[in-house]
Amino acid sequence: MAPKILVAPSLLACDFGRLAEEVQKVQDAGADWLHVDVMDGHFVPNLTIGPAVVEAIRKVSRVPLDVHLMLNHPEQYLRPFIDAGAAYLTVHVEAPGLRNESGLLKALADIRAAGARAGLSLRPRTSAQALKPFVQAVDLLLVMSVEPGFGGQAFMPEVVPKVQQLRQWFPGDIAVDGGINRDTGREMREAGANVLVAGTYVFKARSYQDAIQSLRA
Ligand code: DX5
Ligand code: ZN
Repeated sequence: MAPKILVAPSLLACDFGRLAEEVQKVQDAGADWLHVDVMDGHFVPNLTIGPAVVEAIRKVSRVPLDVHLMLNHPEQYLRPFIDAGAAYLTVHVEAPGLRNESGLLKALADIRAAGARAGLSLRPRTSAQALKPFVQAVDLLLVMSVEPGFGGQAFMPEVVPKVQQLRQWFPGDIAVDGGINRDTGREMREAGANVLVAGTYVFKARSYQDAIQSLRA
């Protein structure tokens, strides 16, 4: 059975000055998860938020927090983000601090041992093959459909076959992240993705509810 279609608005595009209100509003509009982008200024050329802010979000949220670590050294921050309330914690297969296959497997096992679901992500130019050794060790694959670092970029259609390939190997949750709107979301659902992460499309919409519903339909 195909996994359920889920919508995970990315808080990166919300009004951070009214964070608690935005969380409330997007949940009331039907968000299944909340996607939280964590950037270190090294793995990607941008800085965002840390565990203290995740904890603040957790206090006002009632849906799972899907925390996406875009860090050179995610291994140093697994525990802090899980303690802060991450239900899903995703690391990048390219993170230099995880070094090799055994480093990656250790991080994924550590996430699960700490009580969270383990996610693995890849940049648009990394092949699906790079994730193959890990499909037994993860709960979520997060396919980047833009170069990570910023919201509001254009969807890269070349990732569509990658999602199709990953769906052959992995029965769990496959999320797509970057440039997702009604049209690219449909394309990704058809390719086999079941979790749609969307920042700009949801938070810049006049109606969060209409935007979320259009991703699910
Ligand atoms: C980019 C982030 C995305 C981003 C998506 O590095 O991982 O989650 O917020 O934003 P949109 O939906 O605007 O492309
Ligand atoms: Zn993300």
